[in-house]
Amino acid sequence: MSPLIDSTVPLLVQGYAWAPDLRRRHGDPPAVRTRLMGRPALLLHGPAAVEFFYDERHVLRDGALPGPVLDTLFGRGAVHTLDGERHRVRKALFVNLLMRDGSVDGLTALVRRHWTDAVDGWQGRGAVLFDEAATVLARAVCDWTGLAVPEDAAREIAEDCVAMVDGFATPGPRHWRARRARARQEESLARTVEELRGGVTRLHQALPTGAGDTALEAVARHRDADGRLLDPRTAAVELLNVIRPCVAVAWLAAFAAHALHRRPRLADALRADDGAYARAFAHEVRRFYPFVPFVGGLAARDLRFGGQAVPEGTLVLLDVYGHHHDPGLWPDPYRFDPERFLGREPGPGTLIPQGGGDARTGHRCPGEDITVGLLAEFASALAGLDTDVPEQDLRIPLHRIPTRPRSGFTVSVPSRQRSHHAPRFQSQA
Ligand code: HEM
Repeated sequence: MSPLIDSTVPLLVQGYAWAPDLRRRHGDPPAVRTRLMGRPALLLHGPAAVEFFYDERHVLRDGALPGPVLDTLFGRGAVHTLDGERHRVRKALFVNLLMRDGSVDGLTALVRRHWTDAVDGWQGRGAVLFDEAATVLARAVCDWTGLAVPEDAAREIAEDCVAMVDGFATPGPRHWRARRARARQEESLARTVEELRGGVTRLHQALPTGAGDTALEAVARHRDADGRLLDPRTAAVELLNVIRPCVAVAWLAAFAAHALHRRPRLADALRADDGAYARAFAHEVRRFYPFVPFVGGLAARDLRFGGQAVPEGTLVLLDVYGHHHDPGLWPDPYRFDPERFLGREPGPGTLIPQGGGDARTGHRCPGEDITVGLLAEFASALAGLDTDVPEQDLRIPLHRIPTRPRSGFTVSVPSRQRSHHAPRFQSQA
């Protein structure tokens, strides 16, 4: 395809297959020129590209994300859109909250508790694992964030967060649902921040683990690089940048269930596990299944990469899905095999489902340890469940961004099933 042809329609039609297909048609180079949403773009691929992309002298974020993505997925003024000192100061807020000692364990313990309650409620009926996981995650992260929300509000937060992620990359009804969900949650959380600043504690509870400021307190008191408090709407945006991605771990939980269904022997390894296998399994779920298609920014100045000129302002995309299925990087990439990661953590620039570079200073996801911890917990819990998997549509369509098993992964639970069949959740509760 000529680089002058705009790729927006092919991206919408092909979804996750777009970037690998574009590269293949050009002979799999490290950089391919194209156009997206009417602007010149360069698609980068490979470990050297990860290093190039995460050097902030090369790629900036201000102005890179289209309005429809901000109005659904991330929010206006989000940390994702900041550069330089403004980014460093805002990022420290997230690093201090999400990467401090006890965060992974605290949140995991809450998820375990809510999951055990949820499983107890499935007796004699079916459950859609994706929906159940989203609700459990919303309850846990609301507790952890310091938001005392009633049961039905937690369910609504789960549905809204799912809608925000589900509708960010697509025109039509899913997109409008995502916009409405974001508007509703931003408005509600902005009010909560104002109430907390005004001394109202009705909606606010202490962090259950007792470890430092809650996310709500930290965001409400955070001062940006200019020394000012965040305006309530931006504070709400950043609170949602903790809550929404935690709920999004439901996508990975559904993929974990799918992997266990396809390869039941992996459940034996998880059941016999001391934690190392579950972690390796979590890494493999994040590598194998399609979630983030690519990440993007703008060239900070005139540059070169992979033999291509990159004029200042070019939209630079880093291929994520294709990276994880490149046979040059991953032997037999379409084989789901947690052993790839058993006893070894991924090296820099190899596993990038949540970005690359340094999470403390660059744009890499600060919630990666939390994600791996939660997903490992879900994997162990799912391996311990004694459920039936009825006939259903488990296809994962690649043209849909984001995708998931079509059915959401339905299980049926015989009435005899007790949650003590989920040994890890029970024994550690
Ligand atoms: C569901 C699994 C998750 C995936 C696939 C994921 C993926 C990503 C990706 C691809 C980025 C952007 C990297 C870039 O722009 O270069 C990112 C950034 C971010 N993520 Fe995650 N994430 C996940 C979970 C989480 C969790 C659980 C949290 C918080 C509890 C979180 C909070 C954030 C924040 C605040 C940023 C912005 C970082 C910045 O711009 O400096 N994410 N994530």
